[in-house]
Amino acid sequence: MSKTLVEWARGNGERPPIVATAAWKGGDGKSTTARELAYLLGAVLVDFDWDDGCSSRSMGYRHERYVRFPLREAFEKGTIPTPITGRRMADLVPSYPAWVEDQPDRETITSALEKWAVHWGRPLVVDTHPGGCEATYGAVDAADVVVVPAVLVKDSLSALSGMVNELSSHPLLIVPNKVSSPPAWARKKFKDIVTRHGGFPTGPLIREEKWIEKRYLNIAISSEPVPKQAQKFVASMDALVEAVINYA
Ligand SMILES: Nc1ncnc2c1ncn2[C@@H]1O[C@H](COP(=O)(O)OP(=O)(O)O)[C@@H](O)[C@H]1O
Ligand SMILES: [Mg+2]
Repeated sequence: MSKTLVEWARGNGERPPIVATAAWKGGDGKSTTARELAYLLGAVLVDFDWDDGCSSRSMGYRHERYVRFPLREAFEKGTIPTPITGRRMADLVPSYPAWVEDQPDRETITSALEKWAVHWGRPLVVDTHPGGCEATYGAVDAADVVVVPAVLVKDSLSALSGMVNELSSHPLLIVPNKVSSPPAWARKKFKDIVTRHGGFPTGPLIREEKWIEKRYLNIAISSEPVPKQAQKFVASMDALVEAVINYA
């Protein structure tokens, strides 16, 4: 029987669920997926990417305007950050450029995320930098589900191949993204990767939507009212929510 969002959000009795988005290749759709998932799940979005193409920036957060950063303070003082309240988008703990060198080790990250989820009493979605770094490893170690968007092109599939071998014991949910009409060899390679190590669950297929990269609005694509051109995409995000909350 499928869980409701409210049931899922309570978590395992010890803490609310933690979801991470991760991929060893940039540009495959981690941040887009993370923002929509966090919004639809009612989760706090924790941004661990420090590049200017990160979620924080596309949600309107400008690090240039600040001298204090919630992630830096949290790890320097061992305190719990206060998320910025989102309107028609997820609540956010933003990132900042120096996070690349400030980020603590993997274990510190994992235990902080677990503590924050308990303290806030809310699920987390953690968006990560492409590839493995301490913050990414800490996030995937904390995660109950790791959403891995994967584009069916050569470089992305190579990156996916290395990633699943490295994280084969993590709870991966592999989601084909930006799908138009992948050639047979790409579909075959994808199938080969997702059937390794006893097989990984795959999420709903997300179609390539040309309008997404031209979009300048900060609000979640899934926030109502959903424009007509976005309805198919939002349906795939709803299906992804189902896959995440029923991940076994
Ligand atoms: N389903 C999709 N169809 C078309 N473009 C997409 C789709 N998902 C994401 N994009 C675009 O691809 C680019 C990279 O996406 P992003 O989510 O920032 O990836 P990442 O965080 O993995 O680097 C962005 O310009 C984004 O708008
Ligand atoms: Mg990103």
